[in-house]
Amino acid sequence: MGAIFAAAGSAVGLGNIWRFPMLVGDNGGAAFILIYILSILLIGIPIMVGEFVIGRHTQSNMIDAFRQLAPGKWWRIIGFMGIGVAFLILSYYIVVSGWTLYYAYSSFTGALSDPSCDYEAFFNNYVANPWLCLLSAVIFMLLTHLIIIRGVRDGIEKCSKVLMPMLLLIIGILVVCTFSMPGIHKGISFLLKPDFSKLTISVVLDAMGQAFYSLSVAMGCLCTYASYFGRNTRLVSSALSVSSIDTSVAILSGFIIFPAVFSVPGVEANAGPGLVFQTLPYVFNMSFGNVPFLAYIFSGLFYVLLFLAALTSAISLHEAVTAYVHENWKLPRKKASTIVSVASMSLGVFCCLSFGVLSHWTVFGLTIFDLLDVVSSNIILPLGGVLLALFVGWYLSKALVRREITNDGQVSQRVFPIIMFLLRWVAPIAILSMFVKGVMEMIGV
Ligand code: TRP
Repeated sequence: MGAIFAAAGSAVGLGNIWRFPMLVGDNGGAAFILIYILSILLIGIPIMVGEFVIGRHTQSNMIDAFRQLAPGKWWRIIGFMGIGVAFLILSYYIVVSGWTLYYAYSSFTGALSDPSCDYEAFFNNYVANPWLCLLSAVIFMLLTHLIIIRGVRDGIEKCSKVLMPMLLLIIGILVVCTFSMPGIHKGISFLLKPDFSKLTISVVLDAMGQAFYSLSVAMGCLCTYASYFGRNTRLVSSALSVSSIDTSVAILSGFIIFPAVFSVPGVEANAGPGLVFQTLPYVFNMSFGNVPFLAYIFSGLFYVLLFLAALTSAISLHEAVTAYVHENWKLPRKKASTIVSVASMSLGVFCCLSFGVLSHWTVFGLTIFDLLDVVSSNIILPLGGVLLALFVGWYLSKALVRREITNDGQVSQRVFPIIMFLLRWVAPIAILSMFVKGVMEMIGV
């Protein structure tokens, strides 16, 4: 149970509550969600099962796992890609996590429950203030660092078991609250009525990338966690549980945010990274406007939980890189963790500043922050996904995969051929074809 909660802790994070609504808003709503759900079912879950198979079978981290399963072969590259992308994601993840910290703090000082506050301006002023933003990110990184050097298993498992149900409860209450908002009809139809004219290749790639990102698959975090699973853990049903918790949190976040967006004049659905930080304070104040104390409590609670969700995911990202540096460079855990924290924070500084003084530094029209986000989730994660699917589907012996999936024959074999089919054919073909089309679109062929 603990390991599943930890995996869910890694999966549920800013990706669900911050990134998902941002992409839904940018990409026109329901059509995006539909592709997202298809990607989770047909690609994300099988790849997660694949990662679980590798992790539990080898009982070791991603790189050593490939060493064991394919000695001397180039498959190891999947492990390196995973670690590289974890590092990149961590570098900008801490920036947004820093925001959650600052918002939790501002909730408690009462700044966020002041109905006369202009929350859009509040957010824009904050992210353009380099010192305050950097300070939040550095504090967040320090916290992550402190947990990592102590070793994560006990802390994380125990935390996740308490935090996940709490997070779900708060989200449930907020969903109920948004039902009383004036924008509810517009919000719901935005979320449920697909407009397929909005579907372009880049929307499909975004949705697929988000599916990987949100599930934390294709880079070895889950492989490491699965190495702690017991022999009796059912891999397919664990993958289903983690994915359904993860997807429910994402969709429910949409149901909190969009009715609110359409209730507040001047706030746009495609507000980008600031969406959750600009609209949620309005939700709290509009829902509990006549009882300011409740607005105060709720916004405090929400941002603390968002912060904790970010923390459990950031730890899984940090741990993936630290474990490699610790084991392969043969450094003590503390030193390894310090190297990762400092290196990732250094890159993080540029991400922080890309909202203010460095906002003119762009590549293909993307700021440093956006570039890291897009490159890691739209390019490296899908590629890692294809390779993992091919590895488990074609390279590993079918008997080994069957033994892991069925727990040596104790669990029904029915899903085995389905998972194999998805891993062998559906996932690689879907990802690669979208990918090639996306690249062709980008270079204008
Ligand atoms: N899934 C996390 C989220 O939704 C982020 C995350 C943690 C992640 N570990 C990962 C993303 C590994 C990609 C790969 O916020």
